[in-house]
Amino acid sequence: MDKIVVTGNGPLKGKIKISGAKNACLTLMPASLLSDGTLKLTNVPKLSDIDTMSDLLTSLGCEIGSDKQVGTLNLKVREITNHKAEYDIVRKMRASILVLGPMLARDGYAVVSLPGGCAIGARPVDLHLRVLEALGATFELKDGYIFGKTSGKLQGTKFEFPSVSVGATENALMAATLAKGETILENVAKEPEIIDLAECLIKMGADITGQGTSTIRVIGVNKLKSAEHSVIADRIELGTYMLAPVIAGGEVELIGGKRELISAFCEKLEVAGVDISNSESGLNIKMPDNRIGALNILTEPFPGFPTDLQAQMMAVLCTAEGVSVLEERIFENRFMHAPELIRMGADIDVYGGVAKVTGVDNLKGAPVMATDLRASVSLILAGLGARGDTVVSRVYHLDRGYEELEKKLVGCGAVIERISE
Ligand code: EPZ
Repeated sequence: MDKIVVTGNGPLKGKIKISGAKNACLTLMPASLLSDGTLKLTNVPKLSDIDTMSDLLTSLGCEIGSDKQVGTLNLKVREITNHKAEYDIVRKMRASILVLGPMLARDGYAVVSLPGGCAIGARPVDLHLRVLEALGATFELKDGYIFGKTSGKLQGTKFEFPSVSVGATENALMAATLAKGETILENVAKEPEIIDLAECLIKMGADITGQGTSTIRVIGVNKLKSAEHSVIADRIELGTYMLAPVIAGGEVELIGGKRELISAFCEKLEVAGVDISNSESGLNIKMPDNRIGALNILTEPFPGFPTDLQAQMMAVLCTAEGVSVLEERIFENRFMHAPELIRMGADIDVYGGVAKVTGVDNLKGAPVMATDLRASVSLILAGLGARGDTVVSRVYHLDRGYEELEKKLVGCGAVIERISE
């Protein structure tokens, strides 16, 4: 397994281009199942999760042409030739559940392996099943698989989510585009990736309004058609790299960064003393000479502070001035980076879903282990600001969500290299 060695090397200076959003791609790609036309996606990042979704869609009958150099995917599902999403692919990536709604909408039948949990939590799919049942699907759970079917087309309905779910909103939105009649979805997720999906579906001929608000309205259509769509910028990658100059010092421009994608995150950084300004082609981050101030962080659905940036912010707060408190409200086990940061000299106490971080003067490089995607990048950030070498193992987690991470950071003066073992 590969390792990445990061050597603290002082202030960074340079530019980083933000790639297309992993979490937008992972719902845009299954949308191709809704139509027999061609869905052309551009600004697609080179990530292992995208490869896994491509493998899954190919197994269902999707023809995929890709040009990784320019980040283009052409997806065409003339017909779904296999309606079963096998466990050995689904277990690698939970977003595989997003083929369920489109297959039911297209053909009225789908068999999808239960995704199972992951490092950060049990990750149930009950909300996905409940909203699809409200649209007329029936499910049977057997031998670790979800067997779903509909009698005829899905039927438009009114459904209020008991709690906000990004994935369940995406499954419902895709399914409703081909349902008979009107669907009103309430208490939906408002993430930019939901808006991006809706805009792509509208280009395919869907009738959708309200995306980005708490209520989305869909009028079903008979057929969707070919379309071309450019994937939205990855706001989690953006927030991650904004923290690189904060922890190491210096000044970095994030090309393609837009403040409105992560405004709650930006507001917190400015409270802590970070200088964030709009540049001609994105966002400019300038780190004052002194340490950042302590912060209290509470993760919430968009537009609140993103859970996917909690681990990265914790790494930065390890050397802040004072005591910070981070409360993780979205997932039940998302502090696995804390013990690894403690190995680097951080002073962190975890009480259930709350972590107290007492700022120390500096972190010290150490061998650490990645446990999940965002925890692994928090260790890379910690290494940028630490004294000495930090050796991060199990970096396959990183490759799921960060395109050319070493290259992007070396371009700003970081000393970071991958060791293949
Ligand atoms: C999406 O996951 C993202 N993944 C996650 O990013 C992100 O952390 C999460 O949304 C929250 O923003 C993708 O988009 C591929 P949820 P998702 O359904 O859709 C509970 C990353 O690092 N829940 O909004 O799975 C669930 O357990 C990943 O890129 C149910 O109880 O998240 C969680 O506590 C990690 N029942 C909460 O809701 C359900 O049926 C929010 O989950 C579904 C979810």
